[in-house]
Amino acid sequence: MEQYSFYIETYGCQMNVSDSEIVKSILLSDGMTAASLDDANIILLNTCSVRDNAEERVLNRIDTLHHILRKRKQNAVIGVIGCMAERLKDKLFDSLNAVSIVVGPDEYKKLPELARNALEGHNGLAIELSMEETYSDIIPARNSDMFAWVSIMRGCNNFCSYCVVPYTRGRERSRTVESILKEINLLKEENFKEVTLLGQNVNSYNDNGVRFPDLLRKIAEIIPEMRIRFVTSHPRDMSDALIETIAQYDNICNYIHLPLQSGSNRILKDMNRRYTVEHFFELIDKIRRLIPHCALSTDVIAGYPIETLEDHQATLDAMKHVRFDSAFMFKYSPREGTRAAKMNDEVPEEEKIRRLNEIIEQQNQISREKNEEEIGRIFEILVEAPSKKNVLEWAGRTDTNKLVIFNNKEKKYKQGDLIKIKVIRSTGATLFGEVINNN
Ligand code: SAH
Ligand code: SF4
Ligand code: F3S
Repeated sequence: MEQYSFYIETYGCQMNVSDSEIVKSILLSDGMTAASLDDANIILLNTCSVRDNAEERVLNRIDTLHHILRKRKQNAVIGVIGCMAERLKDKLFDSLNAVSIVVGPDEYKKLPELARNALEGHNGLAIELSMEETYSDIIPARNSDMFAWVSIMRGCNNFCSYCVVPYTRGRERSRTVESILKEINLLKEENFKEVTLLGQNVNSYNDNGVRFPDLLRKIAEIIPEMRIRFVTSHPRDMSDALIETIAQYDNICNYIHLPLQSGSNRILKDMNRRYTVEHFFELIDKIRRLIPHCALSTDVIAGYPIETLEDHQATLDAMKHVRFDSAFMFKYSPREGTRAAKMNDEVPEEEKIRRLNEIIEQQNQISREKNEEEIGRIFEILVEAPSKKNVLEWAGRTDTNKLVIFNNKEKKYKQGDLIKIKVIRSTGATLFGEVINNN
């Protein structure tokens, strides 16, 4: 049998980053080898459908790749996997025949066979969603030996009115505690420094009555020397037990991503978020009471179809009230098949952009102020890599997930070191620190 090689490009959320490591493992176990884009026979794009511009980017990329491959001598095919594969299905096999493999998030085990067939000229489609598949039997081929993603559940049952994820990822299912702890123990043996637990809604984790705080506690006790992060928490199901667990364990990072989406109860209701802004504020108060210095980030959507100026102002007010450390801010993008996409969109495109910019401007100011408040504080940071701008300066992260740049001219510190720094300067996005210990 011919030896084939593959290359994977990843778009979208951390779930996709983690899935790409699973796909890599599946292909390697089949005897295929990892290669660069220039050398690979199988080029896979692991894709995202959450907003129109995410899909646009991939479609352009397919075009570019198709042109490159046509000029090549060696046999090569393009495959689309992930959320766009699930959403667009065989529509991705267009008249140009650019794409010849389409595989959804629950069918990755079929990839080796479908890829080989594609190289022999037969298109391959596998897009069934599963009630059970969690890939818990596959050890991901990780791209880092320091930071690990561990997916603890897949799918989403929430059906927020605007969101495509429940359609592309299917029904919610939790991995067994046993399989998760086995993977955590492996990471411990291999001296990983940080693990991020992944799920679209980790608070609804449930393995025969073992809930997310229980799981988190077990993990925290197995790896006291490792940092633990998780995403994403849905504000409706965030329990006191979870907040208490984070407060109780030093190795669970003091950082919570809690997507608000809108500050207007009318919009939250229409979005099917099933919490009120008052409930959200209570959660924030509880978090700040129990976990001092806990950093908070959020997601918000500007220009939801029925959003009035008053609703928009409520979002600005809520964000001003909470003062998130950072925020991911999006312009509403209609997704075919969702309830919101069928609604009459009363907010013109320019107005959506204007509202988004207003939200971004306010948040940038708050982020700058929040980071200024850190000046003079001492943090333990986990050293990551040389900074993007200057190789003599390195970057590390606080447990509150803030990036800190520090001087590493003498290369004293290496990836994975935990060092203490004092913050001396800041911008809205970054802290700058001085190392204050030498060991
Ligand atoms: N399960 C996670 C992440 C979902 S996708 C959660 O519930 O938080 C990440 C973010 O994308 C969402 O929080 C939302 O703010 C944004 N998003 C989802 N669908 C969108 C759409 N149709 N238009 C604009 N933003 C959207
Ligand atoms: Fe989408 Fe809502 Fe599920 Fe998040 S919780 S993935 S926003 S449906
Ligand atoms: Fe995108 Fe799918 Fe993640 S739609 S955000 S890649 S779950």
